[in-house]
Amino acid sequence: MQDEKVALFIIFGGSGDLARRKLYPSLFRLYQKGYLQKHFAVIGTARRPWSNDYYQQIVFDSLASLNPDAEQAKEFASHFYYQSHDVTNTEHYVVLRELAQKLDTQYQLAGNRIFYMAMSPRFFGTIAGHLKSEDVLDDRGFNRLVIEKPFGHDFASAQVLNEDIRASFAENQIYRIDHYLGKEMVQNISAIRFGNNIIESLWNNRYIDNIQITLSEALGVEERGGYYENSGALRDMVQNHISQIATLLAMEPPVSFDAADIRSEKIKVLRSLHIGTPEEARQDFVRGQYGAATVAGEALDNYRDAAQVAPESKTETFVAGKMTFENYRWAGVPFYIRTGKRLAKKATRVDVVFKQLPMNIFQSVNKQDNLAENVLTIYIEPTEGFTLQLNAKRVGQGFATRPAALTFRHSSEAATNTPEAYERLLLDILNGDSTNFTHWDELAQTWRFADVIEKVWASEPAPDFPNYLSGSMGPACADELLARDGRHWVYDPTQTDCE
Ligand SMILES: NC(=O)c1ccc[n+]([C@@H]2O[C@H](COP(=O)([O-])OP(=O)(O)OC[C@H]3O[C@@H](n4cnc5c(N)ncnc54)[C@H](OP(=O)(O)O)[C@@H]3O)[C@@H](O)[C@H]2O)c1
Repeated sequence: MQDEKVALFIIFGGSGDLARRKLYPSLFRLYQKGYLQKHFAVIGTARRPWSNDYYQQIVFDSLASLNPDAEQAKEFASHFYYQSHDVTNTEHYVVLRELAQKLDTQYQLAGNRIFYMAMSPRFFGTIAGHLKSEDVLDDRGFNRLVIEKPFGHDFASAQVLNEDIRASFAENQIYRIDHYLGKEMVQNISAIRFGNNIIESLWNNRYIDNIQITLSEALGVEERGGYYENSGALRDMVQNHISQIATLLAMEPPVSFDAADIRSEKIKVLRSLHIGTPEEARQDFVRGQYGAATVAGEALDNYRDAAQVAPESKTETFVAGKMTFENYRWAGVPFYIRTGKRLAKKATRVDVVFKQLPMNIFQSVNKQDNLAENVLTIYIEPTEGFTLQLNAKRVGQGFATRPAALTFRHSSEAATNTPEAYERLLLDILNGDSTNFTHWDELAQTWRFADVIEKVWASEPAPDFPNYLSGSMGPACADELLARDGRHWVYDPTQTDCE
């Protein structure tokens, strides 16, 4: 059994999709593992008038995919209480405070409170303000505020939101979720880099030619057209998840693996992130929107045909571009990034392309012009692991070389035991460990970076959308972006059956 954690969770948006699909199953896994036992309770809030019984049934039902033992699931759900609550109504916080106090006594929760905002960001400031003004915070234990993305729409709105929240919570009480930071393999970037001398010694612009981050989704916008129209791929993926992955790849080794030390390195390297001019944004970033195509016999529609999407929508469903860090380690090394919907395959991966040797001594005997590039691929999703591509001699006479891959993949057993991102992050919050959450200084900088591109795109006519077919790897301009620099995307599932 694990060390028991003691806390009251108050979830705003307790009837919503995120709560049901992610939070309740993740809390249950923590319960199964013994991190949560007797001394925890959950208050779910939303406007609809549910009873406790009905809510507990909803929680119970949300666990179905885990095939739980029914008795255990029931016992778990009995810790959940529902409070009909409109977040804009001050009086409702008084009722919430009383329920929180009652449950605190009943479950002996020592005043530890976790406030989880699983609802629209426009309410975050209101909720945080009321929690303080109506004394829902409890000074006896910890008060932690958990915030979902999107955190603002641009730098200015993110700053306003941050000031609203900071009026009630200190920075070290705020846990801004980026669920990519909860993924095993994203965390393993640090293990690969800082646990292996042969990797870390080569981890700089003397040996690395370029780094490629691909976060491709096979699905289209589905039911989320309304949200996506106001977001687009740059805000939805690049400003947060991709920037975070790039930061972990680029940061200096921290003094220790402690949250404060890691954070200060992340913030430091982000200060060297090049904030482009409008002209650079125009050159270094391209956008796309998916169009209809038949993929594996299935007719897929245009983005513009999705529900709640404007028929002439200019929203990008694809972005590719070049990030650079202006510091000693990375000067001259482009970080190419790419993300989009309806691409050939769902995958998140990093390809670290090493520089070529100064000369190919085998050329005279084997007439092969080029040796294959050395590439370290870090697979993040759907499989986890890494591959190092080296050159080896082909068996036989003569001296031909061929690429050979050294591959490590998690065993299927390890993969099943891998905690889900939300489970890991919830445990971090219970432990007060902020390593895998985003600090305001990181957000501020990545918004400054994204704002330049966003402004250029907003002020200029979009390309002729749709400009890529569903099931492809994006528009031709994304390939041209690298070709211009004499490079190519390593990962191309349309050409090979590479994973
Ligand atoms: N769903 C996901 O997988 C996912 C992933 C990443 C991030 N997020 C983020 O997580 C947040 C929640 O997303 P979601 O998909 O769960 O949204 P959702 O399904 O629309 O849920 C919204 C919740 O807010 C409640 N609500 C709305 N207005 C309210 C008010 N005035 N007072 C009190 N409660 C109110 C709703 O219940 P009532 O209508 O009963 O009030 C509902 O429980 C968003 O910020 C989203 O961007 C979601």
